[in-house]
Amino acid sequence: MTKIIDKDSFKATWNYEEAPESTDHIHIKQQYELYIDGQFTKPTKGKYFDTINPANNKKIARVAEATEDDIDKAVEAARKAFNSWSKLSGKERGKYIFRIARLIQERAREFAVIESLDGGKPIRESRDIDIPLAANHFFYYAGWADKLEYAFPNRKAKPLGVAGQIIPWNFPLLMAAWKLAPALATGNTVVLKPAETTPLTALKLAEIIHESGIPKGVVNIVTGAGETGAAIVNHPDIDKIAFTGSTGVGKYIRKATAGTKKKLTLELGGKGANIIFEDAAIDQAVEGIVNAIFFNQGHVCCAGSRLFVQESVEKVVVQKLKDRMESLILGDPLDKNTDIGAINSKKQLKTIENYIKIGINEGGEIYQPNCTLPKSGNWCAPTLFLNVSQSHRIVQEEIFGPVLAIQTFRTIDEVIEKANNTPFGLSAGVWTDKGSKIFHLTQKLNAGVIWANTFNKFDATSPFGGYKESGFGREGGLHGLKPYVKFE
Ligand code: NAI
Ligand code: MG
Repeated sequence: MTKIIDKDSFKATWNYEEAPESTDHIHIKQQYELYIDGQFTKPTKGKYFDTINPANNKKIARVAEATEDDIDKAVEAARKAFNSWSKLSGKERGKYIFRIARLIQERAREFAVIESLDGGKPIRESRDIDIPLAANHFFYYAGWADKLEYAFPNRKAKPLGVAGQIIPWNFPLLMAAWKLAPALATGNTVVLKPAETTPLTALKLAEIIHESGIPKGVVNIVTGAGETGAAIVNHPDIDKIAFTGSTGVGKYIRKATAGTKKKLTLELGGKGANIIFEDAAIDQAVEGIVNAIFFNQGHVCCAGSRLFVQESVEKVVVQKLKDRMESLILGDPLDKNTDIGAINSKKQLKTIENYIKIGINEGGEIYQPNCTLPKSGNWCAPTLFLNVSQSHRIVQEEIFGPVLAIQTFRTIDEVIEKANNTPFGLSAGVWTDKGSKIFHLTQKLNAGVIWANTFNKFDATSPFGGYKESGFGREGGLHGLKPYVKFE
């Protein structure tokens, strides 16, 4: 087979200068408190934890740990605020939400840098994807606040009450926006908990929310780890729980809320199938594969972590993919050239490394490009596994890292069967020249989101969510309003 890119000459000709984003313009405090009832409040038990920069494992700030007493206070504040917030006109509520959206835009650079510092994602992604999309979500739902009668014609939509929202570390600000915007637009009040490894942008958001002048108690932001989350889940005066995170914790929450008045939406794990047919535009598909699995270091619930290539084009696709991987830049998340940043935490790095071992032990053929990993911090080279089958653990289980399992197929029916053979049902991608094939597959694939000739595209107006062990309920779009209302 002919070489598609001469790797050596590519590396010899192209030398990227460092292009680090400046941190001069950002302000991070040494210590952050809880945001309860419109005030930054010290935690009752006086406990704090460190949030670190995963690119060098240095401490960035100390963050308050909320315990049951603090959750009690936050829920009480949210309950009290609900009385008046739910009675405000949609137009008034919308004003505050629009204000939050604009304040995020104004401080977009600051948010992007803090997101990359605290979580390890490339600045290019936080700058171009996370932060603008977070602002979009607030703009979009601000628009719905006074139009609920059009969202639900001939029905009177009422807010549920106090919503407890627990979010993960892979898209910290964006997930906060996904949760807060529809809840506020529909007249609910909120207690939100960011993940323990990435609390900083939610705390910055608390400052902006404060600045927006929204009545006190409408939004409460509490920090802490699993126990803090569980205290929200088990609080008796919460009407709705919205959770994004691991399937394991999702199962726990479902059990904990069974038999209570709490409404529940769960956005959990995934093992998305990315399907390349022989008639696809191969170069674009290769870019799509890279984006599907290496975006955000593969810390993406809807990542295309299972690749299915039609047998006739396997050789060319895999060769082009390997060549493309040689040119991916791994390193400093704050460098604008960086494609692959740091793994979010030591714990997550261990999980990923363990799966790589499992893959090798089960007989998979591993491929990693030549790339030097920085000395300090948490790093994982982009990784392919060939020669794997449906029964391999790395094909069945969510790895949540830059690790792709590659399989081949011959017929459409075969790939549908293989793609659906997973406990998850969150996302899929189809690459083909034929519209009819796309429509056929979108009918047959059991996934909440299916992309055609693209991958990992998000939009505030478009619903997102899963089937099976990927959870239930939708976020985004008109559908995203529904989990926050009841009808009389
Ligand atoms: P996790 O599910 O423990 O963390 C998500 C959020 O849940 C965090 O805010 C955490 O503090 C909170 N939490 C943890 N235990 C809780 C409990 N008992 N009650 C209420 N809230 C609780 O995820 P973790 O352990 O950080 O990651 C493990 C795996 O989960 C990853 O390897 C990945 O496969 C998956 N994951 C999936 C995500 C997704 O977007 N679908 C996001 C994060 C993790
Ligand atoms: Mg951190």
